[in-house]
Amino acid sequence: MAVIFSRVVAPAALIWLLLPFAHGEQITKITTDQNPGKWEGWGVSLAWWANIFGDRDDLADIFFTKKSTYWSQGNQTLPGLGLNIVRYNAGACSSSTVNGSTISLSSSIPVAKQIAGYWLDGESIHPASSSWDWTMDANQRSMMLKAQSRGSNIFELFSNSPMWWQLSNHNPSGSSSGGDNLPASQYQNHAIYLSTIAKYAHDHWGVTFNSIEPFNEPAASWWKSTGTQEGCHFDATSQKALIPILHREMQIRGLSKTIISASDENSFQAGLNSWNTITEETEKSYVGRMNVHGYQGSSGPRYSLQQAARKIGQGVWDSEYGDKDASGDTLLQNLMRDIQLLQPTAWVHWQAIDGSGWGLIKGDINSKTLTNASHKYFELAHLTRHILPGMQIVNTTSSNVVSAVNEHTKTLAIIAANWNDTQTLTFDLSALSQVPADGTQVRSWITDRAGDKLYARGENLVISGKSFSTDFETGTVMTFEVDGVSI
Ligand SMILES: *[C@@H]1O[C@H](CO)[C@@H](O)[C@H](O)[C@H]1NC(C)=O
Ligand SMILES: *[C@@H]1O[C@H](CO)[C@@H](O)[C@H](O)[C@H]1NC(C)=O
Ligand SMILES: *[C@@H]1O[C@H](CO)[C@@H](O)[C@H](O)[C@H]1NC(C)=O
Ligand SMILES: *[C@@H]1O[C@H](CO)[C@@H](O)[C@H](O)[C@H]1NC(C)=O
Ligand SMILES: *[C@@H]1O[C@H](CO)[C@@H](O)[C@H](O)[C@H]1NC(C)=O
Repeated sequence: MAVIFSRVVAPAALIWLLLPFAHGEQITKITTDQNPGKWEGWGVSLAWWANIFGDRDDLADIFFTKKSTYWSQGNQTLPGLGLNIVRYNAGACSSSTVNGSTISLSSSIPVAKQIAGYWLDGESIHPASSSWDWTMDANQRSMMLKAQSRGSNIFELFSNSPMWWQLSNHNPSGSSSGGDNLPASQYQNHAIYLSTIAKYAHDHWGVTFNSIEPFNEPAASWWKSTGTQEGCHFDATSQKALIPILHREMQIRGLSKTIISASDENSFQAGLNSWNTITEETEKSYVGRMNVHGYQGSSGPRYSLQQAARKIGQGVWDSEYGDKDASGDTLLQNLMRDIQLLQPTAWVHWQAIDGSGWGLIKGDINSKTLTNASHKYFELAHLTRHILPGMQIVNTTSSNVVSAVNEHTKTLAIIAANWNDTQTLTFDLSALSQVPADGTQVRSWITDRAGDKLYARGENLVISGKSFSTDFETGTVMTFEVDGVSI
């Protein structure tokens, strides 16, 4: 790191050599601008990795606790991510015969992505009847319960597609054109399906779903009968029609602690379009939170979404994020943008286990193989282990620095990355109402680009004049904790 030059170089050459490597300084002010709402937590979707690996205690420990686990597949010691939010996918598939028909599957959907649903036919709405089979989908349910027993406390039930027999073409991957595939006459059955699962989970599994999300990227045009996964398109006007029906079925079953979230659109722009339609006038009260996916990357109207949700007094989740950059840099850049502009109260990763750079741990659900944890795993650990539920996010003046305060323990957490040349990063705390005295120690953790340090403890730094500084090599991520801070 730093500037490398020989002491014997003549002054003119020295200046010439120094310039391209000029060791810059970035000063970041931690502000008192607070995001709306307290931080609710970090999560992961169980579709589809838990359908295959849902019976494994080691994976439950790695994702849902903060203890260290030795991961022999990578010869790595993994700091547990301590995720507290679980998204459970209500399946759409069954091998039952309904009115003489059976499921019509895309030839491209792998077995591992055919999620077994609980409602076998439309014969009875009573969960104790033979129309329902509650032994289905054992692996995904097993991981949800392992997560709960390890401390996860927020659960969302979501749907990629309604049960196949409710669909126009009986195909849980979509219609042939990519348009609506659930006839309006089946809206109530979709609502009964989801609210009955939530009621059954409360009564029999001890899981209270905090929210039900009846759609998954519903405005997208790629949910087609030839698809590789479960999916179902809903025009925004169809979403708007279905939501009050779901609300009513939830009320009938007494699900007073469960809200409806919507619409899990793929991009911020699509999310804004659907939100504006479904929350028009009379429908307002039926939706309890905006959910949006983060696949638009660094672009899209993040702040407009935050304002649209706030306008009717609601919060936002980035309810599904994934990308194929195993380094974690793309994830961290987009996540920091989310925190500063979308201002969600929760952030949920898509597949915990996947290939091609997408997973936190590399693996393949089809061949049921697991290898090492990616660099991305360790970068994400900086956030999930230090920005904790109940903390208050405060804005900073740099796009590469996020910060949160625990107002009970008076601990400030700062997560910073440097994607520029090696430089000194200085953190100025002077805007905060209480800052510790000169000489106070600042704890640190570090992940470097080469992977020599993967969420390793760094040296303690020292507060001086309401600020502290340290050098950052290119690609480094660091976390700092300062005690004795108040907004
Ligand atoms: C596993 O990692 C340890 C510590 O980095 C190293 O000493 C050891 O040689 C590694 N073992 C294998 C089999 O790679
Ligand atoms: C099966 O057919 C009967 C009679 O046409 C109809 O009432 C019922 O809704 C059908 N069931 C399903 C699940 O489509
Ligand atoms: C995981 O394994 C791949 C391929 O063997 C390697 O390139 C990568 O650096 C490893 N990741 C970490 C974080 O060690
Ligand atoms: C947070 O700070 C960044 C950088 O100063 C700024 O671009 C952004 O608008 C701020 N966020 C809000 C919501 O004001
Ligand atoms: C990188 O440097 C440029 C200018 O040199 C600055 O505007 C930008 O904020 C820096 N970005 C990061 C991530 O440090």
